[in-house]
Amino acid sequence: MGVNRGWRRGILITFEGVEGSGKTTQLTRLAKRLREDGHRVVETREPGGTARAERIRDILLDAKAENARTEPMAPASEALLILAGRSQHVTQRIQPALRDGAVVLCDRFSDSTFAYQGYGRGLSITLLRRLNRFATHRVTPDLTLLFDLPVSLGLARRRRSERKQNRLDHETQRFHEKVRQGFLKLAARHSQQIKVINARADPETIAAEVDAIVRHFLAKRRKSKVTRRRPTIQKAHRR
Ligand SMILES: Nc1ncnc2c1ncn2[C@@H]1O[C@H](COP(=O)(O)OP(=O)(O)OP(=O)(O)O)[C@@H](O)[C@H]1O
Ligand SMILES: [Mg+2]
Repeated sequence: MGVNRGWRRGILITFEGVEGSGKTTQLTRLAKRLREDGHRVVETREPGGTARAERIRDILLDAKAENARTEPMAPASEALLILAGRSQHVTQRIQPALRDGAVVLCDRFSDSTFAYQGYGRGLSITLLRRLNRFATHRVTPDLTLLFDLPVSLGLARRRRSERKQNRLDHETQRFHEKVRQGFLKLAARHSQQIKVINARADPETIAAEVDAIVRHFLAKRRKSKVTRRRPTIQKAHRR
């Protein structure tokens, strides 16, 4: 998967799920644990992640009611802005970090585009995948954690939090439901990459599950690193 497959390179772990599913909470906790284990960790998010991409984020999430009324955002325009930001983010931040061997933790990434703009807005997923390949230079996540919970619970958590409401908070419950189901379909189709986590549980239980998944992934990767190195060593011996 992706360009970051080589054993010398870093790892891209993405956090996905509907609004208020606990992505940011768990990302922060995982970053701390990985640093304690001696990993170099880069925490980032989408839309955003670089100065220019954060400006695109402001356009995307602008919740001003008058703007939504006078000029609702066209779905294709939304998708292209997201991909414009992603291209900047991948080129300027994610790829250099992966080349450096860091563990990159990204709060939302390509699967959000397929779930929101594809399943949610009804744009062609085939087309979105093609455009996404163009924007990301085929950088794909090594592992995706999908935090799944009923939409109403996530939205209620968000309302209780201090965070300002954004444009997506004003979407209908039906829209968010389509997005949730979209994420689950993606997970069913890409079960090697996307791991579904029950996000209804308390933060400690979820953190333990995240830990177990990530540790298992890192151990598997270390093992395959050793196997991949072996042929080179044998070749050297033959000379
Ligand atoms: N497991 C949990 N149980 C109850 N509340 C939680 C849990 N995890 C996070 N929260 C709280 O729910 C709110 C949303 O969590 P968080 O911001 O981590 O979600 P998110 O998926 O990043 O949301 P967003 O889509 O808005 O970025 C926060 O107030 C957070 O403290
Ligand atoms: Mg968040």
